[in-house]
Amino acid sequence: MDIQLKTPLLTLALLTTLGASAPSLAGVQQGDILVRAGVAYVSPQGDSDEITGIGAGAKVEADDATSLGITFTYMATDNIGIGVLAAWPFEHDIDAEGSIAALGTVAEIEHLPPTVTLQWHFTPSSNVRPYVGAGINYTTFFSEDTKGALASHDLSLDDSWGLALEAGVDIDINSDWFLSGQVWYLDIDTDASLRGPVFNTNFDVEIDPWVMMLGVGTKF
Ligand code: NI
Repeated sequence: MDIQLKTPLLTLALLTTLGASAPSLAGVQQGDILVRAGVAYVSPQGDSDEITGIGAGAKVEADDATSLGITFTYMATDNIGIGVLAAWPFEHDIDAEGSIAALGTVAEIEHLPPTVTLQWHFTPSSNVRPYVGAGINYTTFFSEDTKGALASHDLSLDDSWGLALEAGVDIDINSDWFLSGQVWYLDIDTDASLRGPVFNTNFDVEIDPWVMMLGVGTKF
């Protein structure tokens, strides 16, 4: 290949490379719908009240759980988004704590924590777009299965409504795709009912998790 042909080809290759890594001018704006999918990790921070009827200092708490999450943002204005967190069910072990910690895992539960937030996007036209949000979480529990020391008992957990706080950032990969990092604090408090041949008791459980999700997103 002679030098006259090589130079424009090299220039073209260089421009293509620069173009691919150059910031897209799109950003997000009013009317856009952002969809993100990824791995979500739930880390409960709370535990239960003392469970009367089992013994002084008897408590339980929910273990960490991982699932698949999907989130949406509808941009109501250039800066204000309406966010929705949805997920595949999270399955948590319920571990005995305090004076009954030796009992280990006493139940498994599943829950879904759909959450709606109002988000403020600081830099919608930028390639790096942080936002914060606040809203409402609804959590429904199901498949409450007791095991081990409580296997002969039935456990049920009431649905919970509570405050949700959110922060996140979208980072453009190209004009179609972006990386997404999100974190929520969810105030999830539930009334638990334990029924069986030995114990019949009700107690409050604070789940109050941090939820973290890493994934990729696109916009429509
Ligand atoms: Ni709480």
